[in-house]
Amino acid sequence: MSRAIYPGSFDPITNGHLDVIGRALKLFDDVIVAVAHNDEKQPLFSLEERLDLLRETAGKIDNVRVAEFEGLLVEFARAEGAGAVIRGLRAVSDFEFEFQMALMNRKLEASVETIFLMPTEEYTYLSSRIVKEIARLGGDVSAFVPACVAKALNRKFNR
Ligand code: PNS
Repeated sequence: MSRAIYPGSFDPITNGHLDVIGRALKLFDDVIVAVAHNDEKQPLFSLEERLDLLRETAGKIDNVRVAEFEGLLVEFARAEGAGAVIRGLRAVSDFEFEFQMALMNRKLEASVETIFLMPTEEYTYLSSRIVKEIARLGGDVSAFVPACVAKALNRKFNR
């Protein structure tokens, strides 16, 4: 069994994340989409809300499991028997942070490999942050996120 972890904040999940999950499933038998408990970030959606949106979307795909984790990602990967961490790479601007994280994770746990997957070009400009901003300003986000996420965003911003 080859297993990968796809970690993130998923605040909220976008079509770009789903694209990456689809690509990861071509390489691994199963993928755990894992939401990190991160006290430093101020998410729009609570951990429970993010998990619910993930369960309604990614969680419906065969061989995908939704989970949450606290502490180090590499510890979680080890506990789940996963040999790889998946990260999406959209543009050069992602690279510096991702490079630092991948090498630090390797230092912490040499057996876990980070694999970068590029989403389809039409999602290279897409991010949870930008989707939240568009929704907050009353724009239509239905092309960028699953329907349940668009609904949840509209509810958050009282639309
Ligand atoms: O979607 P994000 O916010 O870019 O995801 C970042 C995430 C959750 C993958 C990263 O912050 C993480 O791995 N956090 C867990 C704590 C950890 O292992 N930190 C050391 C990474 S070098």
